[in-house]
Amino acid sequence: MLKVTSEQKSQDDYFALALERQGKQHKKNIMKKTIEKLQLLLAESSVFRQNLYSHHWNILGPKFFFMHTQLGEMYDGVGEDIDMYAERILALGGTPEHKFSEYLKVSAIEESPILVECGQIEADTLDSLKKTHVRLYECIRAAEEEDDQGTIDMIGSKIACIEKTIWMWSAQQSIKVGGGSATNPKSKPKIDIVP
Ligand SMILES: [Fe+2]
Repeated sequence: MLKVTSEQKSQDDYFALALERQGKQHKKNIMKKTIEKLQLLLAESSVFRQNLYSHHWNILGPKFFFMHTQLGEMYDGVGEDIDMYAERILALGGTPEHKFSEYLKVSAIEESPILVECGQIEADTLDSLKKTHVRLYECIRAAEEEDDQGTIDMIGSKIACIEKTIWMWSAQQSIKVGGGSATNPKSKPKIDIVP
């Protein structure tokens, strides 16, 4: 997937040298699975963010002001996540992919068509959040396997946050489809914790 340029190669060499000086093995060799999962999170969050822009721009209807604002705040947050994944890849000795064409080859989140209806936008956003949730768990498992405590801590803090977001967006959808209510706890929206 990644084409290594001479500039990237010298960057990798720099990390290898820096770690060697500290008497440590180059982490790129150790954290391969974690870096792969972080690259997927980087790709999928980038596609997700672009979809959020589209929803923020194109939404129509009575909830416009509320949803326009919510979607704007969400793409800002996802933008911070993208930077966090990329910088963690670098800290582990990898090279973060930056090409959208490469993101689309690997991303489980696809480019959304133009959506204008609030319910469709909510469903599309919720689907992307759930896919990100699953990927975060995959990443934390890879990091556990490779004994990468930094990534475990970083991704762990993201998981509780995204579960809260999924619950909130599910609650909003439930009213529309009649799926949940305060008087019928069994039908209250809840997140599926990834086993
Ligand atoms: Fe805007």
